[in-house]
Amino acid sequence: MSTPTRENWGSKFGFIMAAAGSAVGLGNIWKYPYVVGQNGGAAFIFIYIFCIILVGLPLVLAEIAIGRTTQKNPIGAFKELTKSNNWSFIGGMGILAGFVILSFYCIVAGWSIGYFIESINGTVISYTQASEAGAHFNELISNPFWVIGYQLIFILVTMFIVVKGIKDGIEKGCKFLMPALFVILLILVVRGLTMEGSSAGVEFLLKPDFSKVTGNTILMALGQAFFSMSLGMGALLTYGSYMNKKDNIPSASISIIVLDVLVAILAGVAIFTAVFATGQNPGEGPSLIFQTLPLVFNKMTGGYIFSVVFFFLLIIAAITSSVSLLEVIVSYFVDEKKWTRKKAVLIFGSLSFLIGIPSALSFNVLSDFKIFGLTFFDLADYFASNILLPLGGLLIAIFVIYKWGIKNAITSLKEGSENLFDSYPFLLKLWEILLKYIAPVLIIFVFLNKIGVI
Ligand code: PHE
Repeated sequence: MSTPTRENWGSKFGFIMAAAGSAVGLGNIWKYPYVVGQNGGAAFIFIYIFCIILVGLPLVLAEIAIGRTTQKNPIGAFKELTKSNNWSFIGGMGILAGFVILSFYCIVAGWSIGYFIESINGTVISYTQASEAGAHFNELISNPFWVIGYQLIFILVTMFIVVKGIKDGIEKGCKFLMPALFVILLILVVRGLTMEGSSAGVEFLLKPDFSKVTGNTILMALGQAFFSMSLGMGALLTYGSYMNKKDNIPSASISIIVLDVLVAILAGVAIFTAVFATGQNPGEGPSLIFQTLPLVFNKMTGGYIFSVVFFFLLIIAAITSSVSLLEVIVSYFVDEKKWTRKKAVLIFGSLSFLIGIPSALSFNVLSDFKIFGLTFFDLADYFASNILLPLGGLLIAIFVIYKWGIKNAITSLKEGSENLFDSYPFLLKLWEILLKYIAPVLIIFVFLNKIGVI
């Protein structure tokens, strides 16, 4: 039973904006372009979209359906559906993953704030050589006060939004921030497309070269799909738990997925048209937007304003995702432990900041300190993104098929979307097949590869 005080989204639009806000983040604007750049462009994008449809969509539907049916946090939800504690570890793993991701996510998000300030004071556009821009980036991240200072500012903003709750905090913020993000992104896309020489960038994104595709490309694409969709850790489950039973889950899920993919693709267009137009290297890696873009801004007309706008966009994208990470943890302590929202936000926001400090120091003081050959930052990313998320996704698929039962899951999914499924009943069969066979097999494949077995 849900507690009488539990909030709901104010509208379906609010839910979609919040969930799309969770999905659209640094994964789309920071990670996606550099992964595409390193993996040969269009062919990678094609496989990524394929993974989103085959694995992403069925799991998004499942997570949201579990959340909405139980109106509970990830641990409470599994408890409620099984009337036992046996499966709640899936939710526990999700909360842990959220906590770990939040701890390192705030660091890159903090760099975005730092670069926003750097763009306002004109430093970002002042470099004429890639090596200078790169050296400046390295200089900044080697200063622990710079990294930790912005990390702190970022988590404080996240805490400020989450403490205000679902309707007045997360929903209100995302309803305003997400449309702003689209507008800014579209401006950047138009700017990129109108630059001389941008067609090479468009070609890179549209013309697949499948000869470059290896097993690893497929695995990278699946991993990226998980992270980008906020899948496998109960973020969508938690947001679904604030959803109204009358709302249509499939249409909301498709909107979220389309927005997530669209933003990634638009970010790719904005970045690669500019990168190619200015003769940069698309395969630059994780530093792509911080090292390459300053030079792009330097070379383009109106570069100052575009640099300010771009880093502002990055901050928006990161905030609407980090609030979902913190909300997953907070919802558990509010629902199950009866904590006040304020107490949960204060304790877990602060804790994730503290736990993130060793990761922040990975770029400077602790850069030589490695566990299993990885810095704290890389270890946190690897553990959460490559182990906990795929494992969470796999377990959710197994749970729906073998424990909750596909019949119950379908009954729950159909609520609010009877028309769709009565007209096209084969869609439900398709969902079952994807959840039972396709998604688990693909995830096991990626998981085994990530831990180095195959
Ligand atoms: N999807 C977010 C991004 O693309 C990251 C995220 C992962 C958020 C998992 C919540 C849960 O940046």
